[in-house]
Amino acid sequence: MDWPKATPIAFDSEDMVRNDPIDLLVRSHAFHAQLCDLLEQIADSLPDDADPLQCRHAVRTLKEELPLHHRDEEDGLFPLLELRAQVDDNVTEHLAQLSLEHATDESFADELTEELEGLSLGRRPSNPNMLGYMLRGFFESYRRHLHWENTVVLPLARKRLTDQDLTVLLTRMMRHRSGPVES
Ligand SMILES: [Fe+2]
Ligand SMILES: [Fe+2]
Repeated sequence: MDWPKATPIAFDSEDMVRNDPIDLLVRSHAFHAQLCDLLEQIADSLPDDADPLQCRHAVRTLKEELPLHHRDEEDGLFPLLELRAQVDDNVTEHLAQLSLEHATDESFADELTEELEGLSLGRRPSNPNMLGYMLRGFFESYRRHLHWENTVVLPLARKRLTDQDLTVLLTRMMRHRSGPVES
């Protein structure tokens, strides 16, 4: 796979000025789908043929881009959507489930990055079968997460969020990228 760029981010500050925040989230999801493809390729290349550069890209994306995006959703998109959703949208439980998956995926990503860091230095995995199993568990579950957000959450956000909500969302996304992560 041709990984699009060496940076681990889906978009930069210039993109944020020019784009609607929901388009930026769509872009993040496309970037994360590529991450899943990359992780699948790494899993397929175990135990001896993993590309160290691809592993390094995967590590940076898992450590930097993914938590930022989850923050955009949990502190930006989800609360705004919950505020605007109509009763028939039935979205509250789904958003809670997606937030729970973020926490699980981040903790899983921490375990994966330790292993991928070793591969990025050219080391052979201590337990290739286990690493393959972990990688597949992660990208299969993350693909389902992306599918749900792309087919249900983002279309609903386009329908329900007001122009003012979009401005708030973009402002929060900019703030998330302006300095250290707040607690
Ligand atoms: Fe997402
Ligand atoms: Fe998400």
